[in-house]
Amino acid sequence: MGGKSLSSRSNRRLSGGPSKSSSKSAPQPTPSRKITVPEVGSRKAAGKLVMVTAYDVASAHIVDEAGVDLILVGDSLGMVVLGQEDTLRVELDDMVRHTAAVARARPRALLVADMPYLTYHTGPRDAVVNAGRLVREGGAEAVKLEGGHKRVAVVQALVDAEIPVMGHLGLTPQSLHAMGGYRVQGRALEQIEALMADARALVDAGVFSLVLEGIPADVATMITQSIPVPTIGIGAGAGCDGQVLVFHDLLGLHPGPAPRFVRRYADLSQQAVEAVSRFVDDVRSGEFPAARESYRLPREVGEALRTRHQRGAG
Ligand code: KIV
Repeated sequence: MGGKSLSSRSNRRLSGGPSKSSSKSAPQPTPSRKITVPEVGSRKAAGKLVMVTAYDVASAHIVDEAGVDLILVGDSLGMVVLGQEDTLRVELDDMVRHTAAVARARPRALLVADMPYLTYHTGPRDAVVNAGRLVREGGAEAVKLEGGHKRVAVVQALVDAEIPVMGHLGLTPQSLHAMGGYRVQGRALEQIEALMADARALVDAGVFSLVLEGIPADVATMITQSIPVPTIGIGAGAGCDGQVLVFHDLLGLHPGPAPRFVRRYADLSQQAVEAVSRFVDDVRSGEFPAARESYRLPREVGEALRTRHQRGAG
């Protein structure tokens, strides 16, 4: 799904309609200065925020150069990079290593890292120690964690430790088993009330922004209008203050159908297969490498070498 959630995990989850790419309003100018947590907070209703996931230095350079406001090292890492079944298997060491790789790109965008499953569920102290690793070893500038009321004490402890927190409500992939699968959340009145209350509780605890995943657009719009921090949607309609997609979903790095909320802006998987097949053909036919792709000896050394070989042969 999302990166992880609805999205790439995608194929196995919510079935999708056709994915298409199109453009709508004129692109907004990309700020050239470093984006900070206070700046993201101040962008509520002041131009849409854009977040894309990245997991290594190459993907970080691509999304940063494209002008995103936030880079999320999502725990979708487990599914789209490590080939795992769900996000529950991702370990803190995985997140630290990949966050550090992204940080080495020195992105202008704000760098947010996901806290993996069971790194904050065991209480505020563990959460601070584990988030501290993402900040100190990984170079994260903020962390994201899933859940509402239950996470209030953890969010407060992180904020007290000067670690900015992004919340995540709705279809929260780390609750996969509790939810009974990757299902759209917030379709019944009581669920909607609970989501609204969770959003308010997270804001009171100190989150600077909130991801809304896999909920009806009307519900996401209501939440967005009722809280003072920006919401970033994935599968949550156009009423959020920003949008996030997973790198692999956006670029078509996975074969197969995409879920409904993904728009594919490229089909890089197909293009990559074609490029590598051409290399395979060129090697087998002797077309690669050509002289221009090979190194030469200096002329005198080449001649001396030939003479020596001829003498040896004679
Ligand atoms: O792990 C992830 O990629 C996410 C999403 C919000 C895209 O959490």
